[in-house]
Amino acid sequence: SGPDTMSPTGQATGAAQARVAQSGAYLTDAQGTRLYDTDHSLKAGPRGPVLLQDHHLREKVMHFDHERIPERVVHARGAAAHGVFKSYGTASAVSKAAFLAAGAETPVFVRFSTVLGSRGSADTVRDTRGFATKFYTEEGVFDLVGNNIPVFFIQDAIKFPDVIHAGKPHPDREIPQAQSAHDTFWDFVTLHTEATHHTLWNMSDRGIPRSYRMMEGFGVHTFRLVAADGTTTLVKFHWKPKLGVHSLVWEEAQIAGGVDPDFHRRDLADAIEAGAYPEWELGIQTFPDTPDQTFEGIDLLDATNLVPEELAPVQPIGLLTLNRNPSNYFAETEQVAFHVGHLVPGIDITDDPLLAGRLFSYLDTQITRLAGPNFAQIPINRPHSPVNDMLRDGYHQDAVHRGVAPYRPNSLDGGCPFLAGADTGAYIETPVRVPEATKVREAPESFSDHFSQPRRFWLSMSPVEREHIIGAYTFELGKCYEQAVKERALQVLANIDAELCAGVAEGLGLPAPEPTVPPTEVEPSPALSQVGQSWPTD
Ligand code: HEM
Repeated sequence: SGPDTMSPTGQATGAAQARVAQSGAYLTDAQGTRLYDTDHSLKAGPRGPVLLQDHHLREKVMHFDHERIPERVVHARGAAAHGVFKSYGTASAVSKAAFLAAGAETPVFVRFSTVLGSRGSADTVRDTRGFATKFYTEEGVFDLVGNNIPVFFIQDAIKFPDVIHAGKPHPDREIPQAQSAHDTFWDFVTLHTEATHHTLWNMSDRGIPRSYRMMEGFGVHTFRLVAADGTTTLVKFHWKPKLGVHSLVWEEAQIAGGVDPDFHRRDLADAIEAGAYPEWELGIQTFPDTPDQTFEGIDLLDATNLVPEELAPVQPIGLLTLNRNPSNYFAETEQVAFHVGHLVPGIDITDDPLLAGRLFSYLDTQITRLAGPNFAQIPINRPHSPVNDMLRDGYHQDAVHRGVAPYRPNSLDGGCPFLAGADTGAYIETPVRVPEATKVREAPESFSDHFSQPRRFWLSMSPVEREHIIGAYTFELGKCYEQAVKERALQVLANIDAELCAGVAEGLGLPAPEPTVPPTEVEPSPALSQVGQSWPTD
């Protein structure tokens, strides 16, 4: 298939792409030398000892021995698809991002996942689902690395190792299980009551989606959009599935998990293969970019909060269609590397402390998972826009850089002159004013209400959804061995709602405690209920 070539920017050209085919008239070794036999080791006679000089045996087995790479430390199990994002242009007043301009079409790769199970775990477990989208825009890659639940367990990334350690299998037995079915998980989420809201969503029907095609997605954090004239708007991103939001019931999830552990993976691939392309509308809730970054009393920097859609309606800005299955799971679904720091001009971050930690974590973990710093050159991760970075060398460097060492300013390489501050099309951080402050390790007072929003969620549920939630808490807490953990969990529920607490207490055969914080008055938010949520299928 001819020599492999690679452009100086690391883009594969012609023959390098063809290398993936593993085809041709002759079978060869990795060096291209034709093979005579690959079924027998070289031996001293047909029944004699195998010879150390069998270099073909060594190459074949050596490579096999190293076929596996570490699974993701979280979100290890996933399924993905290619597609296209078509912008309606409705966001162009608030963001200058080229891919949000009217009529713009951008190729995307989307990976759905569970969070806690290992790569070989079942699809239908009760868990949060990842919903990560890579937009290959003409201005660089933008990754929207979201979940199917709009709030998170923790408000500060420093607690991420804690919540994941509490949820992963025990160190001694390594028994894989649903996130909720053991003492450590419930110990953590009842001691850290900021986890109450996310946990309640997990115990609702949202924790067991019917299909990846029928899940909402959320960017969770508040982001900052930047318009062409420099004005800024705070936003939350939402994906709305055209098929509506649907869940399994617990018994279905259990049966599907046993009969077909690949239930969601198969469903996604089969639908796309059959031409039933799943679609989502991308939408934004917008909030004025005020110095305090709150909206209707809600702290927009607290990732355990959502903003009810009744207060800030979701405005559609484009359509995502998944229309092509990956051709190689390892090359695409496994090697894709998402990162919340992959941003394009027009989309900026806020001071959410959870987001700040994520900005470090993703690249860091990918250095281990993808063996070195050059994973942006892996085909699935390559930008579709020109790359002229100043990075060099390192493990798995595929690009053949020529000429003078990459440094700036540089009068010797004859390349782009690059004057700092001159490129107005570049990514420019919004000059947000940082308030004068003292260095502290503490959370703001506005992060301390852990029960009003869970209460709103509960009060927004239909009777059957409430029944399911009580059933889920009863089942999962029923798996705990520690009585004190169960009692603490009931105390948390008492602080959300008396009916919820009484239902679970009855199921567990324990007394229902009195609330320790006065219940707050909240309005239900009908959009939180799955009942009646469907979008027209045209
Ligand atoms: C992976 C979402 C918080 C660390 C992922 C993935 C998603 C996701 C969707 C899977 C990406 C894929 O399909 O490859 C979220 C959301 C969060 C959150 C929505 C909160 C709003 C955090 C935090 C940390 C973190 C706070 C660490 C401080 C990681 C790591 C991976 C990951 C290390 C594995 C990435 C890889 O191996 O490529 N996350 N996450 N996440 N997340 Fe998060």
